[in-house]
Amino acid sequence: MGKIVTVSIIGVGARGGEAYGRYLNKCRDRFRIVSLCDTNEERLEKYGETFGVPQAEWFKDEEEFFAKKRSDLLLVCTLDRMHVRMAKRGLALGYDILLEKPISADAKELRELVQCARQSGRTVMVCHVLRYTAAINKVKEILDSGAIGKIVSIDQTENVVFWHEAHSYVRGNWRRSEDTTPMIMAKCCHDLDLIQYFIGAKCRSVSSMGSLFYFRKENQPKGAADRCTECKYVRTCPYSAERIYVDMWKNEFGAPENAWPMNVITDELPLTAENLHKAIEEGPYGRCVFACDNDVVDNQTTIMQFENGITATLKMEAFVKNGGRDIRFFGSDGELFLHEGEDRIVLKKYFGEDREWKISDLTDDLEGHGGGDHRMLDKLYEILAEGNKNVDTSIENSVESHYMAIAAEESRLAGGALVDVAPYRNA
Ligand SMILES: NC(=O)c1ccc[n+]([C@@H]2O[C@H](COP(=O)([O-])OP(=O)(O)OC[C@H]3O[C@@H](n4cnc5c(N)ncnc54)[C@H](O)[C@@H]3O)[C@@H](O)[C@H]2O)c1
Repeated sequence: MGKIVTVSIIGVGARGGEAYGRYLNKCRDRFRIVSLCDTNEERLEKYGETFGVPQAEWFKDEEEFFAKKRSDLLLVCTLDRMHVRMAKRGLALGYDILLEKPISADAKELRELVQCARQSGRTVMVCHVLRYTAAINKVKEILDSGAIGKIVSIDQTENVVFWHEAHSYVRGNWRRSEDTTPMIMAKCCHDLDLIQYFIGAKCRSVSSMGSLFYFRKENQPKGAADRCTECKYVRTCPYSAERIYVDMWKNEFGAPENAWPMNVITDELPLTAENLHKAIEEGPYGRCVFACDNDVVDNQTTIMQFENGITATLKMEAFVKNGGRDIRFFGSDGELFLHEGEDRIVLKKYFGEDREWKISDLTDDLEGHGGGDHRMLDKLYEILAEGNKNVDTSIENSVESHYMAIAAEESRLAGGALVDVAPYRNA
């Protein structure tokens, strides 16, 4: 048997508890969860018991948790604004760190964390999970093989399904920039990371436009109530919480015992129509989408130019039925398309037959970001226990997308003005 990497998790919510914790707990031949910290007592108890962590290692208070080093690896899975503080505390204690994205929306904090990580000599892997998916790996392999010649430009669309937009960015945790980060950071740092990964150069400048176009008070239908359960449009509005969390769970999802995003609105498992209904009757996820305190954009288009002359566009679209990314690469010898929602990758060389791959044929694990969540943790094990030195989503690589997002948001707020990225990177 190989080395067992011991793990502490701060923030046992949807990511720390459900996505990563449950997988790590299954991989007991490689990982052992030994300590948990969360301000939410119910979650501490739920995951403490599920993962078999002794009660003496359940911490409600960050100060007590950081009083000493408790394991080899620390997962920082709290909300956006806490990541840098907790990562720095972890590095000071000598932890290797798996850090949730976004790292920070403050360029100074990003530069400081890179410094801290370098000085500590520890591994900091950022959860840009898409880089570990079979689909993205295949696309990169095709591009690197030279199949489309020289890449000239990229056109990428992040299709945020209409109910995901309502769940996370109108009613949920990521609805207000000042409490979390702007949409281009919260949602699209993954996309910006992929674009610069494919292009293989640093971004020189960006221009971005977008707005909160639809989820505003003035678009609330006449006579609508501020809570779905009291609203006359509860059976007809596409954003009705009853339709999203109860009907969709029952019909499209097949009434599973546990599923995202239903497991975000209630801590009670197994999921039932009754506990979901109660959550929307009483909790924040039952609010009318036109009567929330949201301010993040629901549409945004960003244009980028890279230091090697390649250009790219990124559209974040919230008004779509099916999710997944569409990425189109334009090259000197052909085109390449990734259509995540349609489960396919298509290579169109200018001469010769087109080739097509089904994404689902490339892997037998498409759970959690197309299998990226699990493959990232597998890769992390190789790095911590088996001497693999290649951290694809190292802190140094990952801050690039964040500098691009900060520049894009500055541009958007200035009506699309061209903004250079270098000052954020080098100040
Ligand atoms: N990598 C990805 O693709 C991906 C996907 C979704 C979310 N995220 C990011 O993951 C992070 C967590 O998101 P989530 O959906 O799990 O949120 P969540 O709200 O479900 O979980 C966060 C947890 O942190 C806890 N917490 C808050 N303050 C704390 C403190 N001071 N000390 C200890 N615990 C504290 C909360 O009680 C909660 O349980 C966010 O930053 C989010 O942007 C990343």
